[in-house]
Amino acid sequence: MRAALLLLLISLAAAENGIDAWLRYAPIPEANSFKDFVPSTIVVLNDSQISPVYTAGQELQQGINSILGQRCQVAYEGSDDSSIIVGTVEAYASTGGSIDGLQELIADGYYISTSAGGVLILGENERGALYGAFAFLETLATGNLSAGSYASNPDAPVRWVNQWDNMRDGGTHGSVERGYGGKSIFFWDGQYARLLASIGINGIVINNVNANETTINDTNIEGVARVADAFRPYGIQIGLSLYFSSPANLSHLDTFDPLNEEVIAWWNNKTTQIYSHIPDFAGYLVKANSEGQPGPLTYNRTLAEGANLFARALQPHGGTVMFRAFVYDSKTLNQTTNWKADRANAAVEFFDGLDGKFEDNVVIQIKYGPIDFQVREPVSPLFTHLENTATSIELQITQEYLGQQAHLVYLPPMWRELLDFDLRVDSQPTPLTSILNGSRFGTKRAGGYAGVVNVGTNTTWLGSHLAMSNLYAFGKTAWYGASAPSPSEIIDTWTRLTFSHDPTVISTINALSLASWPTYENYTGNLGLQTLTDILLGHYGPNPASQDGNPWGQWTRADGNSIGMDRTVSNGTGFAGQYPTEVAEMYERIETTPDELMLWFHHVGYTQKLHSGKTVLQHIYDAHYEGAAMAQTFPVQWEGLKGLVDEERYEHVLYRLRYQAGHSLVWRDSICNFYFNKSGIADELGRVGNYRYRIEAEEMELVEGYKVYQVKPFEAGSGGGWAIATIANNTRGVAEASLDDFFEKSGLSDGTYDVAVNYYDQALGNSTWELWLMDGNGEEALVGEWKGDLEYNLGRAPSPYIDGQTAARVTFNGVQVGRDMKLRIVGVPDGLESAAVDYVSILPEGVVD
Ligand code: GCU
Repeated sequence: MRAALLLLLISLAAAENGIDAWLRYAPIPEANSFKDFVPSTIVVLNDSQISPVYTAGQELQQGINSILGQRCQVAYEGSDDSSIIVGTVEAYASTGGSIDGLQELIADGYYISTSAGGVLILGENERGALYGAFAFLETLATGNLSAGSYASNPDAPVRWVNQWDNMRDGGTHGSVERGYGGKSIFFWDGQYARLLASIGINGIVINNVNANETTINDTNIEGVARVADAFRPYGIQIGLSLYFSSPANLSHLDTFDPLNEEVIAWWNNKTTQIYSHIPDFAGYLVKANSEGQPGPLTYNRTLAEGANLFARALQPHGGTVMFRAFVYDSKTLNQTTNWKADRANAAVEFFDGLDGKFEDNVVIQIKYGPIDFQVREPVSPLFTHLENTATSIELQITQEYLGQQAHLVYLPPMWRELLDFDLRVDSQPTPLTSILNGSRFGTKRAGGYAGVVNVGTNTTWLGSHLAMSNLYAFGKTAWYGASAPSPSEIIDTWTRLTFSHDPTVISTINALSLASWPTYENYTGNLGLQTLTDILLGHYGPNPASQDGNPWGQWTRADGNSIGMDRTVSNGTGFAGQYPTEVAEMYERIETTPDELMLWFHHVGYTQKLHSGKTVLQHIYDAHYEGAAMAQTFPVQWEGLKGLVDEERYEHVLYRLRYQAGHSLVWRDSICNFYFNKSGIADELGRVGNYRYRIEAEEMELVEGYKVYQVKPFEAGSGGGWAIATIANNTRGVAEASLDDFFEKSGLSDGTYDVAVNYYDQALGNSTWELWLMDGNGEEALVGEWKGDLEYNLGRAPSPYIDGQTAARVTFNGVQVGRDMKLRIVGVPDGLESAAVDYVSILPEGVVD
């Protein structure tokens, strides 16, 4: 017991940088009682170092040593029943092992039997044996090991991740599209394959969907082969994103028409070349005729003709084409002249009539919603139009529109809602999972899951420790499909593996995680309006106006009286009619459309009553206040873990949660003021536009170096869109305010308050700010100082502007403030950053303003 305690203490004290993610194999309190179940010899039924079975043996040895402090011998012969045996069913049988009574396994499945006598870990294939080893270690590391046997099979064969790493990016090697966790790991030696294998991932596309022809030039094919070598021992096959016009770009051909004989021959040869370097190459991912990319439509060929070009080239080698359904024309959509125009319609329209025309080795990869990874979208109806074609769902672990890993958003609750959604094809139960795994339509081949991931060289992988639960959960979701553990169970297991078995740690991370998606939705875009980030810049901060008036088609059609996309058949874009009848009827009518998708399907007045009884606009106001209030509790909840998790990760998470709490207020005020301004309808509770505890920077006395600055968009600046910024980038700014007026307006009396400053942390520069208080006797005291260094500490897209993306808040607690005092802000600009300030809040306990 004492030894276990000591081990625990040692593991707590050690700072952790996150590189081991959920594979920390931390010592567990139950170590002694488990030792009986864990023999000290591991018999590995394959001694080839490139075999996943060999990897499984190494992993078991390392894991058991680390978790139990027990050093195991590894042997590659014999099958002594009193050891841990790991291998394929076939290899085990060939050593004379009995497989009678073994539950049926399919490809990648595994069987584990644990008894006091020995442990048997068998895979249907080599990869399955490795999955079994990881599963065994997970039960050990979570303290759940017990005698018994069970089998586990994957719900779907396709369990891939898609990296969006750039192969050519204008000279700076290793950038990642929508990368918030540092540069590409493929230019660095990492352990990514191990992490992915531990959650059952069997394929990885290593380059950006926005590919270019250099991806498959001779040099790159050799490089990709080396990456494949690194992933092979983990049972992970490599795939590549293609650029459709490569034959014309890389060789003398003057066409890339998918029906042209020379083009066909070109792709056949290229594919053979790839397989000669990578015999187990997984296949291609294709983004065609989407956002300016070339594709078969360029030659008036169908998408099926385009997909089949690659499918046929891959067939002799056993490869698969993941053909993306993200096909739309981002140039010609016209919102003003055409009420019926709708980007959401595009996928079904483009794929219309093509079901059954794809080769068997084509999987159509469909984003979960019809637009683009928004905080709330209905399930893409395209899934129901492809009964004879395998489909996979594209989820985004990368939180592109969901806070870019700078906001905590635990995604499994959203995924669960989408995956369990019953699409009612032919009025029969049709949860989305049943389409993906092939069971509903009896498709010849099943599809599965593709997760867009943007891990980088940051030691936390994703730029945030807590964001890694999404990657872990993606693997579990893809493996188990409909029978996956609940999002709550998944986060608890992840926490045990990643942080601690301490019940306070588990319950705190559980509460934070489960609250995070509804909270983010509340303070961003509600009722199916989409996220409302700035869609023209970084997809991060609030900018509702950016949705409309451009051909990107993420429209809200908000005007002075009404808001929302009319997607009905009777009067709108017709999108609702793309669903099977029962679902189409539900979305067609306001009465039966769930509130959370009301503005996705209907264009209504701001005063339209929702099912909740609130008006649309009051819902938007209330949700924002609730969401931002909840976000304020996140850092406070986390502070309860001080001393219970290692200091390094404690501080890292706290920093982010504090930032999120501040940015949620920027969101709240931006969105509420935007719609208040548009509609002229006041918040019933009088909160929007009234900020009793604020001192607006533009109303301060600008003593030196600062000027009043008009923020764009206006709603990203408090007080109607005004802030202050330094006049030049080499002169400091000083602004002062007597607190008399403030005390008058707020009704407060002298006392101790939290003082918050909202400022703009632009990239690139490290401005510094100081906040001073001077009392009636001229005594000066520094309340606090801070730096504009968020762009170096958060991976989220940097922005050079003074806007909703860069707006941030810093808070100083317990400051003595009195009526006779004067407040002074000193801002020293740096680089492109102009030490801008929006306002100062002086806050009584419990008040958020
Ligand atoms: C989004 C994203 C792009 C990406 C595209 C895609 O539009 O912003 O970066 O290329 O989706 O999925 O193809």
